[in-house]
Amino acid sequence: SRSIRLAAIPGDGIGPEVVAEGLKVLDAVAPAHDLSFEQTEYDLGAARYHRTGEVLPDSVLAELRDQDVILLGAIGDPSVPSGLLERGLLLRTRFEFDHYANLRPVKLLPGASSPLAGVGPDDIDMLVVREGTESLYAGTGGVIRKGTPHEIATQESVNTAFGVERVVRYAFEQAAARPRKKLTLVHKDNVLAYAGDLYQRVLKRVGEEFPQVETDYCHVDAATMYFVNQPRRFDVIVTDNLFGDIITDIGAAVAGGIGLAASGNVNPDGTAPSMFEPVHGSAPDIAGQGKADPTATILSVVMLLDHLGETAAARRVETAVAEDLIERAGAGVRSTAQIGDAIAKRVAG
Ligand code: IPM
Ligand code: MN
Repeated sequence: SRSIRLAAIPGDGIGPEVVAEGLKVLDAVAPAHDLSFEQTEYDLGAARYHRTGEVLPDSVLAELRDQDVILLGAIGDPSVPSGLLERGLLLRTRFEFDHYANLRPVKLLPGASSPLAGVGPDDIDMLVVREGTESLYAGTGGVIRKGTPHEIATQESVNTAFGVERVVRYAFEQAAARPRKKLTLVHKDNVLAYAGDLYQRVLKRVGEEFPQVETDYCHVDAATMYFVNQPRRFDVIVTDNLFGDIITDIGAAVAGGIGLAASGNVNPDGTAPSMFEPVHGSAPDIAGQGKADPTATILSVVMLLDHLGETAAARRVETAVAEDLIERAGAGVRSTAQIGDAIAKRVAG
């Protein structure tokens, strides 16, 4: 049997509840596919921070680096200054492990319901490839004359030819493997002239290697509108870190809600473990009540299995989720664990 080292970082708020269900489903699917997951849980997040002052110790980062794959719940808590854990833990891991392809499928599954009228699964099936290591997320810039009326805060968008090229090439590869073979660059090149121009030139140059892929360009503001009124327009999207953050929340909303949105922080070169996580946050308002939908985490487990090359196991979990979604349309409200149990049961089936 194939043994896979998996680090679980349940994190804050609803994170532990949804990760428990993700692991439950993983344990249910493993035996039939001859997989065994060697799981290590890392208590990172608000509680650890309050207890020890640590956000992500270097020693933990080193241990994480030795894992095959990471499953993360959610990070962030109102008791900790906003952004401290997000930057110190989540963004640091994405940067240190070179998670340059932040994959966020925006796919309306049968059984899920879109708030858009007259829209079905054939209308919303995209893959957003969000750059994960650069742009405004680089965190460079600074402040002078802080607290005075003359304060100046700068926040720089860092875009390297190396960073743009690797994510654009990855997006072309994804587009080439899909039936529609269409890649749309989403940016704002009418205003962000330097970064937008770099993306455009790289798209054109790398595109020569993929003549079978049709390319298109869309400003980010218009893209938000098209997500709502013309979602069919998109197949694969490549975009910068901040634009990708924003459009994938809209994507989640149109494709059945944030409770279903999965993601992968992928290092396609395999030089460090990739990390899979639901797009949603820690939702402290409903934490500990068994109200959170674990489906986004379970669909992140599907992406994790695909990443490991365990496609048969991935399809099995995906099918179980799809069936559960169809069934839940008619059923009453279920708890986090009830949803996890139902999907795990189908998977073990
Ligand atoms: C996401 C989140 C993070 C991001 C935050 C928590 C730093 O919104 O994964 O989309 O901005 O990338
Ligand atoms: Mn976000």
